[in-house]
Amino acid sequence: MLASVALVDSKGKKGKAGGEVVVVGMFQGEKPDAHLPKGAAFSRAVGASADRPECTGESGRIVEAFTEGGARVMVLGLGKKDKFKPSSLRSAGAAVARRMGVIKGGKVRFSIAPALEAAGAGSPGDKRMAGRCIGEAFGLLSWDNLGFKGKATAPDKRERHAVSLAFDDASMNEGAKLGLAIGEAANITRTLSETPPNVATPEFMAKAARKLAKEFGLKCEVIEGKALERERLTGHINVGKASENKPCMIRLEYTPKGGKGGKGGKAKKQKPLVLIGKTVTYDTGGLSLKVNNGMVGMKRDKDGGCAVLGAMRLCAAAIKPGYPVVAYLCAAENSISDEAYRPDDVLTYRNGVTVEVTNTDAEGRLVLADALCYTCDKDAPVGIIELSTLTGGVITALGSTFAGLFCDDDALRARMEAASSSSGERVWRLPTDQEYRDMMKSPVADILNSNPNRKAHAGQGAAFLSYFVKEGVPFCHLDIAGMHVSDGDSGMYVKGSSGFGVRILADVLLQEA
Ligand code: BES
Ligand code: MN
Ligand code: ZN
Repeated sequence: MLASVALVDSKGKKGKAGGEVVVVGMFQGEKPDAHLPKGAAFSRAVGASADRPECTGESGRIVEAFTEGGARVMVLGLGKKDKFKPSSLRSAGAAVARRMGVIKGGKVRFSIAPALEAAGAGSPGDKRMAGRCIGEAFGLLSWDNLGFKGKATAPDKRERHAVSLAFDDASMNEGAKLGLAIGEAANITRTLSETPPNVATPEFMAKAARKLAKEFGLKCEVIEGKALERERLTGHINVGKASENKPCMIRLEYTPKGGKGGKGGKAKKQKPLVLIGKTVTYDTGGLSLKVNNGMVGMKRDKDGGCAVLGAMRLCAAAIKPGYPVVAYLCAAENSISDEAYRPDDVLTYRNGVTVEVTNTDAEGRLVLADALCYTCDKDAPVGIIELSTLTGGVITALGSTFAGLFCDDDALRARMEAASSSSGERVWRLPTDQEYRDMMKSPVADILNSNPNRKAHAGQGAAFLSYFVKEGVPFCHLDIAGMHVSDGDSGMYVKGSSGFGVRILADVLLQEA
């Protein structure tokens, strides 16, 4: 695998002969030399590979050729020309990145601009997107999950090498910078996600947020201990009660430089876009204990928060939108002890809504409700996007193909859907309805945290959360329970945390407000 990827400037020096792998594009049913860059010295080598039966041009297929001087050329299949999209380069780029891992290649140059032009994707925007997709693929494939390997793992199992990435086209090069930054942010998310629960406690997450804030000039505030009581963040207090790892709500704030609402700006403060992430550092289910192996993997119940953290890094380091962005990580460990909150407890939230706890395993919504009330009170958000591994029900409904999207607001939903299609992180809309809200009514309090009728678990979660969002505030809930981990090694992903959420949020932040 790749250890790191560095981008060399498109005008930079080419590598020594033999040292640099050159990638050219080929469409299905065409000759591979149809789109060679002008004056390419390797056209003879490439021409010869055309007759090989495996040289089909199907998307992601790589056929290699060698020049007389020994330089390696990869003929990269781009699929059918009329179906080509710049984003197809995510999987094709991943194939090249994986091949670079196998051949231990240190330098690769993409000379595929002529092929993009031939497919009608030659505009600067298309080329930037193509470069970005290749950058994302190389970035994501440079991640590993070896942080907790010890002395019993042989060093050669960790052998990795650096790759430098270059393009013959300035727009592609520019796009690749963004793609690599996206990959880097997603990798930080994945590493946090994989960090085991005895290490990644709420306090650990707070430290990670503080470090990020310091590095990129964000404001960071951690609400913990007595301050949780003062702010009446009852969900955190109760869900986190049983654990010696104390809960906290982490708040990060990005302020654009110079713009309205910017530091020292006289103009009226702009209202922020708010991101919220479920950060349950371990979910045992609490007293409604998880059974039959349902607990294994619950270190990843913090992945909504990890994705929000990755997105905030990207926001501050690369995207720098012209409007403020505020993030909340709702961090608690759902454990068991004599101090645990229980089924039958009634919690009173800061917005006055009372909740009867029927199931301590429906804990995510209880901590998220705190952040929803709090942000509606304090930030007057223009919109709220909340990500959580909220329900097993969404996995039953959508598998690992789509995240469940719940959003009543047409404009915010359109933003999410546009971001989904450009980022490639897929979402599918699921229904919100008064009937689901009614299903959450409690005989003793205002609402229940879970209706035991076993119906529409994902929709119940969304309905519950809606009780904590002020009327008129656009709200989007993304249930990422099926998407935050990849169970196999394919395309841009290896087995383990996927970093889902970082890329769709990146595209939301890239949109004009
Ligand atoms: N963290 C889980 C949801 C989950 C399950 C995430 C599997 C990833 C994989 C959540 O807190 C939970 O336990 N949800 C319950 C809700 C139920 C008790 C109403 C569920 O979906 O079973
Ligand atoms: Mn749970
Ligand atoms: Zn949970």
